[in-house]
Amino acid sequence: MKKDYVALRSKSSLNKHDILTISGLANKDVKKGFKTINASVGAYYDEEKKFGRVPTIENAIKEKFSEKMAYAAVTGHENYKKGILSYAFGERLKTIKEKNEIFFGATLGGTGALSIAFNLFTDTDSHVILPDVMWSNYKLIAKKANCSHRTYKLFDESDNWNLKSIKEEVDDEMAKKGRALLLINDPCENPTGYSMSKKEYEDLFAYLNKKGEEGELVVLFDIAYYNFSDTECPLFEMLEGDLNFLPVVIFSCSKSFAVYGFRCGAFIALCPDKESKEDIGNAFRAQVRGTVSSPVGPILHSIGEVLNDKEAVKKVIDEISVNKMALVERGNYLTSLLDEAGIKHYPYKSGFFLTLKVENAVATFDALAEKHFYVVPIDEDKVRIALSGISKSECLDLVNALKEVL
Ligand SMILES: Cc1ncc(COP(=O)(O)O)c(C=O)c1O
Repeated sequence: MKKDYVALRSKSSLNKHDILTISGLANKDVKKGFKTINASVGAYYDEEKKFGRVPTIENAIKEKFSEKMAYAAVTGHENYKKGILSYAFGERLKTIKEKNEIFFGATLGGTGALSIAFNLFTDTDSHVILPDVMWSNYKLIAKKANCSHRTYKLFDESDNWNLKSIKEEVDDEMAKKGRALLLINDPCENPTGYSMSKKEYEDLFAYLNKKGEEGELVVLFDIAYYNFSDTECPLFEMLEGDLNFLPVVIFSCSKSFAVYGFRCGAFIALCPDKESKEDIGNAFRAQVRGTVSSPVGPILHSIGEVLNDKEAVKKVIDEISVNKMALVERGNYLTSLLDEAGIKHYPYKSGFFLTLKVENAVATFDALAEKHFYVVPIDEDKVRIALSGISKSECLDLVNALKEVL
C-alpha cells in the first residue's frame, strides 16, 4: 500500500502552468536545440539576450558579500534599512517620517514580505482582497498563510481601472469583519503592465481615508516593478499626505537591482503611532523567527553599502535606466505589432508583462508550445507574455505565431 506521508493540510502542488515550470519546459527545448522563445518568466534580458545586470550592485556583492556572514538581525541590517528607505522614498522620506512611525523589516524578496503581511493582517476566516487579473502566486501565498482571498475587478467593461469594484469588495469585507486587507500592485501591474494615473490614486486615497474611519484597513502596495515605469509612480507623493489607513509598501530588490536569486526585499509599514509600530514589529519578528529565522544578511549588507553611497546610487539609477528604456522601447514595439494585427490585450503602460485576451488560454498555450514558444496561460481566457525576457525580433516572431494560432 502506498504510504501517504504528506499531512492533509499540506497536500498541494504547483499548478501545471506554474511560471517556473513552464520556463523549465522552454529550457529543455533550448537544450534539445529547438529555436525557442521563452516569454514566461519575469526577468529582464537585453536585446542580445544577456541577463540585464546592474553592474554597481553586482560589483558591491562581489566585494562586500563575505563581510557579514553572521546571522543578521531579525529585521535586517541598519544600513539596508537606511539605504532602501532613502532609495524608495527619496526627498519625500522626511515628510513621511514626520507624519508616520515607520516599521521596516528586511525580507526574503517581495514574496517574503507578502507572506508576512498576509499572515499578520488576516485571520483564518478573513480574506486578502486581490485584483482579478493578478500575479498567480498571490493565491498560493495566501493559501500558505492560511487565509482566503477574494477579488476585485481590475478593469471595467471599457477597460478602465475599476475603483467601483475595489469599493464593493472592501465595503463588504469591512461590513462583515470590521477590518480588511487590500492589495494594489502598481505600477507596471503583473500581468497586464497597467499603471495607475495620478487621478486614480487621488480617488483611491480619498476612498481609503474615509473607509479607514470604520476599522482596521490595511493596504499593501506591491511596487515590485516600480523602477520600470516610464513615469514616476504617484503613490510616493500620495504617501506624503495624512493617512487614515495603514499602508504597507512591499519592496523587492529582485527586478530593480537584478538580484532575483539573492532573495531580498522589505516590508515597510507607515504606522500612525508608536504603539501600532510596536505591535506590528513584535508580530513581524515572531513570524520571521518561526519560519525562516532571519533574512539573508550578506546581500542586505552589500546592497546597504551601495545605497548609502550617493555617487554609487547615481550610477545604480543610470544603470537601471538603461534597462528600463530598452524595455519601454520593446513594450511600444510589441503593442504596436499586436494592435496592427488586431490581437486584443489589456491596457499596457510599461513593465515586464502584457496580457492578451483570448478565447481559450490553455489551447493558445498548447498551440504556441508546439512551436517551442512559451507564454503563460492565466485563468481561462488570458495569456501573459513576459516581454522582459524576449528581444524585439522575438516579439515579431511571437506575434506572427499568434496570428496563426488565434
Ligand atoms: C507582482 C509581484 N510581486 C512580487 C513579486 C516578488 O518578487 P521577489 O520575491 O523575487 O522579490 C513578484 C515576482 O515575480 C511579482 O511579480
